[in-house]
Amino acid sequence: MEPFRFHLFVCTQQKPEGVPCCPASGSFAVLGALDREIQARGLDNHVQLTTCGCMGLCDEGPVMVAYPAGVWYRRVQATDVSEIVGTHLGDGKPVERLVWSDAPAMKAMAVEHRDKFRAAMAARDKAGTLPDRLDQMIRGYMPSRCLLTALELDIFTAVGDGANAEQIGTRINANARAAGMLLNALVALGLLSKSGDRYQNTPESARFFVQGSKDNQRDGLLHTTNIWHSWSTLTDAVRRGTRVPADGTGARHDNAAWTRNFIAGMQRNAKDRAPLVVKALGTADVHRVLDLGGGSGAYSIAFAKSYPDVRCEILDIPEVVPLTGEYVRQAGVSAQVKLRPGDMLQDDFGSGYDIIMLNAICHMFSEQQNRDIFRRAHQALAPNGRLVVQDFILNSDKTAPQQAALFSLNMLVNTEAGASYSEVEYATWMKAAGFPEVSRINLPGPSSLMVGLLP
Ligand SMILES: C[S@@+](CC[C@H](N)C(=O)[O-])C[C@H]1O[C@@H](n2cnc3c(N)ncnc32)[C@H](O)[C@@H]1O
Ligand code: FES
Repeated sequence: MEPFRFHLFVCTQQKPEGVPCCPASGSFAVLGALDREIQARGLDNHVQLTTCGCMGLCDEGPVMVAYPAGVWYRRVQATDVSEIVGTHLGDGKPVERLVWSDAPAMKAMAVEHRDKFRAAMAARDKAGTLPDRLDQMIRGYMPSRCLLTALELDIFTAVGDGANAEQIGTRINANARAAGMLLNALVALGLLSKSGDRYQNTPESARFFVQGSKDNQRDGLLHTTNIWHSWSTLTDAVRRGTRVPADGTGARHDNAAWTRNFIAGMQRNAKDRAPLVVKALGTADVHRVLDLGGGSGAYSIAFAKSYPDVRCEILDIPEVVPLTGEYVRQAGVSAQVKLRPGDMLQDDFGSGYDIIMLNAICHMFSEQQNRDIFRRAHQALAPNGRLVVQDFILNSDKTAPQQAALFSLNMLVNTEAGASYSEVEYATWMKAAGFPEVSRINLPGPSSLMVGLLP
């Protein structure tokens, strides 16, 4: 008994450039079109659509197999999808002109392909060739750097409704030849399209990278372009054991543009997570919240919006508080959210809070600093109060999740003594600070909550 009436496998096996493969002949466009058409016809509860690896028929791609009948389609294009969904999935009749039913020929091609592949891998291994995975990792900075530079130069906004390299170069105040080279690379990366000498934004770039678009994320992403400079110091930072000033970037918090991008970056990460955190913690018996290092205020805003009686205080450094104020005012919760400029490493926290939050804070500080914050938070909480840490939390040998391990290096190059920490470390510090009960709440996404509860 099949759980779905139909199961479609679309090959999306990526191969090195120049090697025939289904993505190179359009399988992702087919996949997207299938998804849309299946939903549009109300068939999504009857059809399971999945991607799969190479089926050995790469010269005939994009390849798709439809079960339970085991119908093999070849050279499917997005323009064929409406017919396939209507005729095959709707009426149960395969689209014959696209079906490949010559089983012996298919098997011969797949076996030949497999044998060639194995021979090529054996030859590469014998020759000591660097595996593709390592090669890609080594050069992984190139696409990243192209996109970061495009964002810095605001190229996607300059492309607008379409323009040539010279026009775009003039708009971004750059050399036309070099702008053309970057624009071509962005086309190669699938971030722009080109027709004749005219460049155009893809729908994705127009949506996320163009000034004025509702979902534009450029301001927040510029924070990543800023920390690129500190990542370049990683080798020295590993030697010295702490951050090393990056040439030319200036003192970070003295630079207003840096701080604005930083807080926009924090808002980008926090705005969707904040309601999940509030839901996970619940608002029963929560009257006063202290949000240490609240940044854009996303978490206090989410508390304030979900519970009109809650009062939040955001303590952040004086350079950031005016920016926090902008987000709080925009959210319309100024009456519930108070701003406190200060230093959480020095200042008295006050008393009587039901929740003290440390969202994306502990990774900036050393173990000693975190232990001290936890101890002072313990004193500032009301009975039954909770200390909440949200962060990337490492496993006990600190090698996973990958994002948390990499983020630890982000803290090495950007802070005096910060790092990602493990669940065991957080639990140990909370217990030492006087929280008898400590629990972990997993959230969707890369970070989790550690909650210390007072009796
Ligand atoms: C990584 S951001 C997290 C922001 C916010 N909690 C969030 O999750 O979106 C760290 C925040 O802590 C603030 N911060 C850093 N050092 C601080 C200190 N000593 N006292 C108060 N705030 C501080 C920064 O200005 C920034 O807003
Ligand atoms: S890459 Fe799709 S069949 Fe080989």
